[in-house]
Parts: sequence; C-alpha cells; structure tokens
Amino acid sequence: MSDQRPILTTRQGHPVRDNQSLRTVGERGPATLENYQFIEKITHFDRERIPERVVHARGAGAHGYFEAYGKIGDEPASKYTRARVLNETGVKTPMFVRFSTVAGAKESPETERDPRGFAVKFKTVDGNWDLVGNNLKVFFIRDAIKFPDMIHAFKPDPVTNRQEAWRFFDFVAQHPEAIHMVTWLKSPWGIPANYREMEGSGVNTYKLVNDQGVAHLCKFHWIPKQGVRNLTSAQASEIQAKDVGHATRDLYDNISAGNFPEWEFAVQIMPDGPNDHLSFDPLDDTKRWPEDQFPLLKCGRMVLDRVPDNFFAEVEQSAFGTGVLVDGIDFSDDKMLQGRTLSYSDTQRYRVGPNYLQLPINAPQPGVKVYSNQRDGQMTYGVDGTGPNRHINYEPSTLAEGLREAPKTTEYHQPVEGKLGRFQTSRTEDDYTQAGNRYRSFEDWEREDLIANLVGDMKQCPEPIQLRMVWHFWHADEDYGRRVAEGAGIDLEKAKALPPLPGRAAPHKRLEAETYTDGTRAHKVAAE
Ligand code: HEM
Repeated sequence: MSDQRPILTTRQGHPVRDNQSLRTVGERGPATLENYQFIEKITHFDRERIPERVVHARGAGAHGYFEAYGKIGDEPASKYTRARVLNETGVKTPMFVRFSTVAGAKESPETERDPRGFAVKFKTVDGNWDLVGNNLKVFFIRDAIKFPDMIHAFKPDPVTNRQEAWRFFDFVAQHPEAIHMVTWLKSPWGIPANYREMEGSGVNTYKLVNDQGVAHLCKFHWIPKQGVRNLTSAQASEIQAKDVGHATRDLYDNISAGNFPEWEFAVQIMPDGPNDHLSFDPLDDTKRWPEDQFPLLKCGRMVLDRVPDNFFAEVEQSAFGTGVLVDGIDFSDDKMLQGRTLSYSDTQRYRVGPNYLQLPINAPQPGVKVYSNQRDGQMTYGVDGTGPNRHINYEPSTLAEGLREAPKTTEYHQPVEGKLGRFQTSRTEDDYTQAGNRYRSFEDWEREDLIANLVGDMKQCPEPIQLRMVWHFWHADEDYGRRVAEGAGIDLEKAKALPPLPGRAAPHKRLEAETYTDGTRAHKVAAE
C-alpha cells in the first residue's frame, strides 16, 4: 500500500529529504553553516519557550460555551445589565477557560496546597469579557500595592529557591485580612480534588449597568454541577507520588470521554454606593457577602466540551485580564480590581508579545470584526484595515473610508468626590468574624486537617511569627487559637498578651448570624 501521509517540510515549504543526518563534509564531518534545514530546526527549538506566567504558571485549559437564562434570579437580566451575554437566551457564547495553581512553576505538582485560578474568557457578540477569579471566593489582601510583596513571600526564597512556611506566615502575620483566606487554604479546601469539582468566583466586586445607566455592585460565582470535592494532605501526597498532573489528566479524560463538566453562573447584587449600613465594606475582597442578605441569583450555565488541540498555542499563550469587560459590566472602586487591571495586559505584552490579541485564542469570536487603527509591532499577523480603509490608520478623517466611533450609549456616571491620598477604609477593622465563621462552619475532619497543617507550618516558624499567628487565630475563634498553640507547643498566654499590630485597629468582631453556601453545603453561622 502506498504511504499517504503528508510530506515533512521546512517552514519555507521545502520538502525534507533527510531528517536524520546533519550535512557534513564526508562521513565524519565537519558540519557546514549553510545547512538551512538544520539551522531552521534548531534555532526554532532554541526559542520554543516563552517566560512562564509570573503567577499561575501551572494550568490547564478547555473550550466550551455559555448559555444565559435571560434572568437574574426571578427577574429579567435586563433590569440589571444591558450586556447581551447575560440577556439573550438561546445563544451559545463560545468560551475558553484556564484553571491553575498560583505559586508553583509551570510543571509543578497539581496537588499543591494553593488557591486555584479560575479564568474565563467569554467570546461574546459584543467582544470579549474575561472573568479572572479563584475557587476560594476571597483573597489574602485588599490593596493592590501589596501584591508583589505577597507573591515574593509565597514564592521560593531568592537564595535557596525553596518555598518556606516562615516566609508565607511572616507576611500573613502582618495582615489580619489574610486570616480568612488562610483558614480556607490550610483546610482541605486548599487542595481541590481536581478542576472539575471545584467552585469559582470573580472575587472582586464589579458593577452591572442597565440601559438607563443605573448601576448595581455585584459579585460573580461559578457553582459546579459535579459537586465539590477536596483532599486532605495525606490524600494529596498519595496522588502526587504517582502523578504530578492529575488535575489536567482528569479534565482532559472527562471531556474526551464526553463527560462534559458544567457550572451554573450566579451573581450577588446590591445597590451601588457606599452601603454604609453594612458592617463590612463590599469593596473589600477579603470578605464574602452573606447570602441571607445577598442571595446567589442564577443567571446562566457554562459547559466545557472540547480540549485544546495544542497546549502551547491555546493554553500557554492565552491571556486573560480584569480590564476586559463588555458594555453593561463595569469596574467598581475595589482597589484590588483596579490595581490588577494594568498588570495583566502589561505582563502579556512582555510574556507573549505586543500583538498577543491577534492570536486566535485571544481574539474575539469570528462574528466580531476588529477594526482598530493599531498597526505593526513584533509578529503582526493580521492587519485590521485590509478593506478600503487600509490607508487611513487614524481617526477622525473627513474621508468616507476611515473608521468612525460607535453610537453613544447611556453612560453610567459615577459621582466621585474626595481627598487624594493613601487610605485604609474604616470599615476594614473587623478581619476576624468571617475567619471565625469559616472555622466553625467546617466539618470535624476538615477542622482537624486545618489544625494539623497549621501545626506543621508553625513548627517551621520563628517564635515572633508563631505568637502573632496564634494571636490572630485566637481572635478569630478561641478554640482555633488554642488548638494551634497546643499542637505546635506555643505559649498561648504569651500570644494573647501581644498588643495590636502597629497602625491597625484593636481586633473586634461582629455579632450577626450569616448564611453561606460552600459546595452543596448551605450553612448558617450563629452569632457568637
Ligand atoms: C493586585 C493584585 C493582582 C495582581 C497585580 C495580579 C497579577 C497577575 C499577573 C501578572 C498574572 C499573570 C498573567 C499572565 O501572564 O497572563 C496573573 C494571573 C492570574 N491571576 Fe492575578 N493578580 C492579582 C490578584 C488576583 C486575584 C485577586 C485573583 C483572583 C481573584 C487573581 C487571579 C489570577 C488568575 C486566575 C490568573 C491566571 C490567569 C490565566 O489562567 O492565564 N489575581 N495575575
């Protein structure tokens, strides 16, 4: 039978007649420099890696679609937003999703205890909308200027290249707002069983804007129809001994077998404004919004039904960012959200290149025509103005061929008044209520795993860090602080006697009962 397979070529389209041997003078060399085929092959190979993401380097991606219910809870979605992706029913909006860990390098084990990234690109009829979130619904810090310090402390020591518990807790000990997320992270919720069986959340606060230009603050959430499953440290170690990429395998195997994972999309909503009646700041991403006051309103579903054809082209080069919003979804003044927004496209211009948005994985869906006046730069692939306007790469122009602005919409005008400066909001004093609620809401086995993990970590920390951490845990819940202190042999009375942190308010807690849903578990946490 004749061989029907395609012929191997160089990138110039020349057929390769010998791929086994260098061109050499005689059988034993030397090699010659005019060997184009070899030079093309080896120099391309030399450039095959791009810088890994500075955070969230280890990840896996999948394609899928989003279907809106046209409603937010029981009300028409248009009451809150004019974004067509949430309003129009019967439309399958194409999506690409990348799940990740945070601190580990590109090939690090997927069993690591770490928040999981949950980055979603909706390729909507109005252009792209990215929602770049995590599985734990909150974050460690609430001011973007702290992010590089936080990541430095969580990543390996610059001398030994080892991640160290004392570096992590040295940072956390100075940041009471991190105790809530640390309580999640050191429990089994810090190691989701895989990417399919975990929740997602946009974490930061956004705004929905309707046709009349009326805005509401909102938070976005993903609820997995597969349920939620987490691992103890012992279970994770057992998996890691055999497989460092178990979560990618689980995702690819299930999608390839037609077992498509699915998430419901829900929003929490409150009127725009300072909402001074609340005892927490709705712009503080270290806090959750209690669901008895702000229920999870379902508004659509996402299905992942296709694995990438090529990991590098689609997953490694994918670029998500918090600045990528569509009309009807807007920024809030959440200081983390605002600080993040520059960072994503900045790093992507460095990591992938200035024309990263021309790559198919990052470009809008084919139905959305991109007509910008941007030209040139490294790796220019397409030229937006290939039509009659190809000469006119500026705007405005008196000529008929140039591009014009889109018709105006009813803009949302946020009133802003204040003194320019560096502030902490006065409503961020209580960093303990929700951490304590989290501790009390865990099942016994989860609490035991949490304490065991923290005891192990505390034993690696110097005494000043140990004492401050026990002080924080004790303020969140007395039983929490006592058990960590006893397990790690830390003097509880000495820890309790510490003064408040310099420049921070003395710890205090709220008293209201609150309801939260975690996985399939809805729980009311009692007032203390
Ligand atoms: C000031 C705060 C933050 C800054 C400066 C920041 C910065 C970054 C940067 C530079 C990247 C790499 C992007 C790339 O190379 O494509 C990244 C990735 C990511 N960040 Fe953040 N980040 C911040 C906070 C957060 C928060 C609060 C979350 C979760 C709610 C988050 C979730 C993610 C995710 C999921 C990715 C991976 C995206 C992907 O899969 O490509 N980040 N971040």
